Amino acid sequence: MCGIIGYAGFRDARTVLLESLKRLDYRGYDSAGVAIIDKKLKVYKEVGEIANVERLIPKIKGTTGIGHTRWATHGGVTKENAHPHVSCDKKIAIVHNGIIENFSKLKEELKKKGHTFLSQTDSEVIAHLIDDAYKGNLEDAVVAAVKKIQGSYSIVAVSEDEPEKIVGVRKESPLVIGVGDSENFLASDITAFLKYTKRVIFLNDGELCVLTKNTINVVDKNRKSIKKKEELITWNVKDAEKSGFAHFMLKEIYEQPDTVHHVLRGRISEIEETITFPENVEKLLSNEINSVHIVACGTSFYAGLVGKYLIEQLTNIPVFVELASEYRYFGVRNESSLVIAITQSGETADTLAALREAQMSGCKTLVVTNVIGSTATRISDGYILQQSGPEIGVAATKTFTSQIIVLFLIALKIALLQKKLGSNELYNYIFHLKELPRHVRDVLERSNDIIAIAKHLKDAKSVFFIGRGINYPLSLEGALKLKEISYIHAEGFAAGELKHGPFALLTKDTPVVAIVTQDETYEKILANIGEIKARGSTVIAIAEDKDTEIENHADFVLRFPASSHVLPCIAITVVLQLLAYHVAHLRKCPIDKPRNLAKSVTVE
Ligand code: G6P
Repeated sequence: MCGIIGYAGFRDARTVLLESLKRLDYRGYDSAGVAIIDKKLKVYKEVGEIANVERLIPKIKGTTGIGHTRWATHGGVTKENAHPHVSCDKKIAIVHNGIIENFSKLKEELKKKGHTFLSQTDSEVIAHLIDDAYKGNLEDAVVAAVKKIQGSYSIVAVSEDEPEKIVGVRKESPLVIGVGDSENFLASDITAFLKYTKRVIFLNDGELCVLTKNTINVVDKNRKSIKKKEELITWNVKDAEKSGFAHFMLKEIYEQPDTVHHVLRGRISEIEETITFPENVEKLLSNEINSVHIVACGTSFYAGLVGKYLIEQLTNIPVFVELASEYRYFGVRNESSLVIAITQSGETADTLAALREAQMSGCKTLVVTNVIGSTATRISDGYILQQSGPEIGVAATKTFTSQIIVLFLIALKIALLQKKLGSNELYNYIFHLKELPRHVRDVLERSNDIIAIAKHLKDAKSVFFIGRGINYPLSLEGALKLKEISYIHAEGFAAGELKHGPFALLTKDTPVVAIVTQDETYEKILANIGEIKARGSTVIAIAEDKDTEIENHADFVLRFPASSHVLPCIAITVVLQLLAYHVAHLRKCPIDKPRNLAKSVTVE
């Protein structure tokens, strides 16, 4: 969704804002803009690339400013609808992420008072509300404005009359302060200012902050001053750069030997024969749990579906996986169930709403996330960090594999606590978990085989992905990756379901990617492949190295190493990711920023 940056310091605000906006553009955007105070408030905005805005800005001197990348919600993609929005006298400017639900009513009221609107956005009312309340103190006016607003927001405002100050406020939308020396930042994402500082202060809902280059003041919703804890981020700038790869997505796929290692590090121990989580998480897992509800969106939802197989298999506890956008309104809330929210960003609006719903119903909540300090970590009873480093490519890759591993560790921990797992079995699991980075590396080294197969898929109109058991959610994820970055229609199916409908769509021009593992469903999936071949379609199997039979059934085989049955899904996922990536690359698609998609969906 929209990206926000605010700066008050000693550097040239033009450079800082543009640099930060470029780092935020992975969120997905259709237009961008900045407002800089250089004696007067100056606003530059344009549709399309950030370079389009850059071209508009002359070399101006201001050291205070705000910037925005927009992902349209209310109002089309036009220059007028791009942020920042300004007051009638053009002295106040704001940037906003979120949705103002009562904007039509507010707009009518403001128009009656003589305000003129230039855009079709909900956000513009904020600039006019602040203007309406402004009596020489920006924070007073922002407080008065947000009192009238219903909806979700993170807002950053500046006023020409107070040229060294930026004011920010948030409700259900992310906003984080970057603490520098003689400079301070305010942004929707840490990556926006990571180049300048790793010291951060996370704002909570209802909190307002006033920044100048040397001061940071935060107040709660009653305007009581609060002392906030400063935290140090371990990510570095290199993590947020492409480092020679053609795309962030490819770089992030190739980071997986490390991210798989990082998510295991410190959590598995053969010597102590245990799985270790933070104390409060262990407490949550040791409660009497009669069911687990997993809530998530997108790729995280598919990780949840994989988690269902893992947790049920090891613990016998029933797991229900719900789309957060559905769970927030429907479904059963059971006080003795544990609700696990999976969210890479920790900021997805539907997942946060589902979490709040669960808590209000008395459920204990646990979050699996990649972003320390994100809203999800602050509104749950406990959280587990994925430790994957920033993920910039819109299509999730490394965070998916680390989510699966965290869910497997949760399953192992519950099984241990329930005494369903002996020390020999645990030792065996840990031994094989440690091999996962090597398996991932092995798949990466075979990328040429995958490129060769990608050539067969690049002109397809539609591709099916099939799997059974745990490979079923992997087929959903494989199809999602392909459709989101290559724009080829793709669907994932449980292989046993093909005859109940999907076969009607299958033609000889529909390639089918079949995930084949040598488990109890092996014979069944071979039979499914036979049924597909009988209809003339090409079958590409993803199969284990040691499977010598598969070549007699499929047209092409992509191999993955699996020396055990512990999480072969990780190596399989990497094959699926590379396949989607290379198809999209051959089709010359904008892989890191697929059309109409955003990295972090912070509105409902
Ligand atoms: C967006 C992204 C997906 C992601 C989903 C959930 O749709 O494009 O890649 O899986 O949001 O994001 P979360 O941060 O909650 O995991």
